[in-house]
Amino acid sequence: MTVSQFIRNLPKAELHVHIEGTFEPELMLAIARRNGISLPFSTVDETRAAYRFSNLQDFLDIYYQGVSALQTEKDFRDLTCAYFDRVAVQNVRHAEIFFDPQAHTARGIPFATVCRGIVRGLKYAQQTHGITSRLIMCFLRHLDEMDAFATLEQAMPFQRAIYGVGLDSGEAGNPPGKFARVFAAARAAGFRCVAHAGEEGPSDYVEEAVDLLGVQRIDHGNRALEDPALTARLAELGMPLTVCPLSNHMLGVVGALDQHPLLAMLEAGLSVTLNSDDPAYFGGYVNDNYQAMQDHLAVDDATLARIAQNSFHASFLEPQRRAELLAELDAYLRAGASA
Ligand code: HPA
Ligand code: ZN
Repeated sequence: MTVSQFIRNLPKAELHVHIEGTFEPELMLAIARRNGISLPFSTVDETRAAYRFSNLQDFLDIYYQGVSALQTEKDFRDLTCAYFDRVAVQNVRHAEIFFDPQAHTARGIPFATVCRGIVRGLKYAQQTHGITSRLIMCFLRHLDEMDAFATLEQAMPFQRAIYGVGLDSGEAGNPPGKFARVFAAARAAGFRCVAHAGEEGPSDYVEEAVDLLGVQRIDHGNRALEDPALTARLAELGMPLTVCPLSNHMLGVVGALDQHPLLAMLEAGLSVTLNSDDPAYFGGYVNDNYQAMQDHLAVDDATLARIAQNSFHASFLEPQRRAELLAELDAYLRAGASA
């Protein structure tokens, strides 16, 4: 996909990206090799050929298989650095990245190894590219709440590094309410809360995420549109949605990209952001998602600029850095307008 110069240089934040979902086949094979791990694929082409999904579970099966190559702190550092190297040239100025500790601790990798490695990557991003970040730990919703409580316990010594908690993995049959107590405990401990909802699950799950989990953003949220009263309420609350068009397309959440509900979301007055979700698997990073919406829905540059502005407002940035980045975006738009 060719990305326009306007999109390429547009300052933006990415708020919905799973660091394990940025694991490109080249790096996966290299890390597997150095760790002596055998994967079901031995070449980059073979790996990419396996990336055909018809739904979320198909994808998750492959995704959890891929993460098994990750063993050491350096592996997690290298994974994180590779993501930031890629998005630095997309003018991502701030990123809030998810990780799935249970996908690693269940394989015997210590929580500290995962967390320390990712944090080293975040420091690299700041020092090398001037990109700020927040780290969000997701609970796997197909596991039970006790497992999530154990994970929250393991996170307590890393509270300075982990800013928030989220909820991901297979949505159907795993409503947000299943995690109400652990989210309450996380909130009480000072973590911000977000949750995937309304990707495959019904609009009720979006409502539960708001009412039972106390989330400050909804990840995806597509199916909220099926409930007009809920949609109006989300708009009223200014509840941001982290929308991921290429992911939606690859996982069958939307049929074709020109049927993506982005325009309906904007018309409903929702605070929409655009994000990549699992870019190594879904055919593009954040700018490819911006470009896809321009190509398929004729979203104009001014609207994309508003979406980028939403991304800073919806972030967990501290006020001063948020103001700086909004000013940077403003200067970019003014320079373009007078060019
Ligand atoms: N949805 C739910 N869980 C996930 C995803 C997703 O798109 N990516 C990684 N874990
Ligand atoms: Zn996601």
